Amino acid sequence: MWSGPPTGLPAAICLAIHMTLLLLAALVLSAVTVYDLLQRRHAILRNFPLIGHFRYWLESVGPELRQYIVTSNNEERPFSRDQRRWVYSSSKLQNNYFGFGSTNDMELTPNYLVVKHQMFPARVPRVGDPDFDPQYPLPCLKTLGGFRKRPRAFTPASVVNVSGMSFVALSGAAVEALNRGCQLAGCLHNTGEGGISSHHAHDGDLVWQIGTGYFGCRELDGRFSLARLKDTIASHPQVRAIEIKLSQGAKPGVGGVLPKQKISDEIARIRHIPRDRDCVSPSSHTAFRDVDSLLDFVERIAGETGLPVGIKAAVGELPFWTGLATFIARGDRAVDFVTIDGGEGGTGAGPLVFADRVALPFKLGFSRVQSIFAEHGVPERVVFIGSGKLGFPDAALLAFALGADMINVGREALLSIGCIQALRCHTNHCPTGIATQHPWLTRGLDPDLKCVRLANYVITLRKELHVLSGACGVPHPALVSADQLEILDDRFGSKTVADIFGGRRSQRPEAGTGSSAVKPLALVQFTRAGSPSSLR
Ligand SMILES: Cc1cc2nc3c(=O)[nH]c(=O)nc-3n(C[C@H](O)[C@H](O)[C@H](O)COP(=O)(O)O)c2cc1C
Repeated sequence: MWSGPPTGLPAAICLAIHMTLLLLAALVLSAVTVYDLLQRRHAILRNFPLIGHFRYWLESVGPELRQYIVTSNNEERPFSRDQRRWVYSSSKLQNNYFGFGSTNDMELTPNYLVVKHQMFPARVPRVGDPDFDPQYPLPCLKTLGGFRKRPRAFTPASVVNVSGMSFVALSGAAVEALNRGCQLAGCLHNTGEGGISSHHAHDGDLVWQIGTGYFGCRELDGRFSLARLKDTIASHPQVRAIEIKLSQGAKPGVGGVLPKQKISDEIARIRHIPRDRDCVSPSSHTAFRDVDSLLDFVERIAGETGLPVGIKAAVGELPFWTGLATFIARGDRAVDFVTIDGGEGGTGAGPLVFADRVALPFKLGFSRVQSIFAEHGVPERVVFIGSGKLGFPDAALLAFALGADMINVGREALLSIGCIQALRCHTNHCPTGIATQHPWLTRGLDPDLKCVRLANYVITLRKELHVLSGACGVPHPALVSADQLEILDDRFGSKTVADIFGGRRSQRPEAGTGSSAVKPLALVQFTRAGSPSSLR
């Protein structure tokens, strides 16, 4: 802090310095006042020169002020303070318990989820038990690529994985932290549609996402190139699966533009795009145009690479899904996995009306697709992945009960590496260095530290899912049925999740008889996947 002119100077010089500084300040303030009066863009500043700036300043720090001072623990969106605190403390391995009991108004809150526990919970290994594993392993119960017998089919080691968020939407440091964290937690890292960068090359297994821009597998003019796709796969052995992105919940049907000013050498190289023009991702794919040609595309890529290939989409109109299930029922072509993103999902940048109004929220969209696949008798042929604010034990459990085999976490993963929900991803001014390319801001994010945080968060979520499923009498969240969960209204009424959304109903005759009745995990695998599969 400045503490006045150096001591020992004659009083006259001190006075002169003070006067000069005061004069300078007065000049600056007068200049701002004159500018405000003359400018025409902001009526507030024209009418209230100088003091009008406080309004803009308050508006810009509004989210932080509300976060820290005004709102209650459950008020903020997309993630409440309680939710953020749970992620922060879990990621730092601090005490993530809450004291004194629930602060929720259970009986007065509409759509309040309640998990119905068994009187005799299933046993969950604890520290000191011979079968205790501090990684809390929770593998997927299905084999990715199992139904179509892809040569590189595998059983994902974790039901919690990191959702697609591109390098460029995220800083290199953030991508590196996520990738290294995924390696530590033994889960999959989805690249997002921006291609595979050097920041993805830290030994975390990848799901390579391919969007309409075909970054990493395109000709310079933007057309899909199978030869380039094979080159990319050959040079990135850490790619375990490919996800073709049809849409995401926050902005389905919206393409994207990366202005040429933002295309660095690194980005041009990764995406295989020229630097002299804007990079446009169209709103729909050019390599296929309907379900039939999509399945041809999937089979072609899977045939050439041996990898499981799936799709990601948000849910709107249903004929696409009926068509997909009908083709899969024939048996000769299929997607290996379907990621359903809820309309409440996040984005780096998108139009407000799309974020707020386009695409069904997760529970509705996912359950509609599930019932279509069930009607066609094919849900077991596909691995279902859910995303859209599912990175908390209760939300994840509901997703599993609806039929999800795995969940992806996007923004929750960002919270674990330091995101403060400043809601500035679209401005390049993310204060935490996560959703920005600004060198000064990204400098603040230390991947060495943050990768451990991501791993801690994923492992803690797996741990709480273990405990929660145990309370429901089963050893895995994908075995909790939809009639074990209830949704209360605010008038003392309630319905099971199965009654509202469908989903898996309890078929275990032994349900309710306690932990001894729980099937061993290997047997469960056989039952759900149709074929036993070794864990990775
Ligand atoms: C900064 C940011 C970038 C994203 N980039 C992509 C992307 O490249 N591809 C994609 O399919 N989804 C993208 N998403 C959406 C997420 O993958 C995810 O589907 C969505 O945020 C819902 O999950 P969440 O609620 O756990 O965040 C992005 C989300 C964020 C916040």
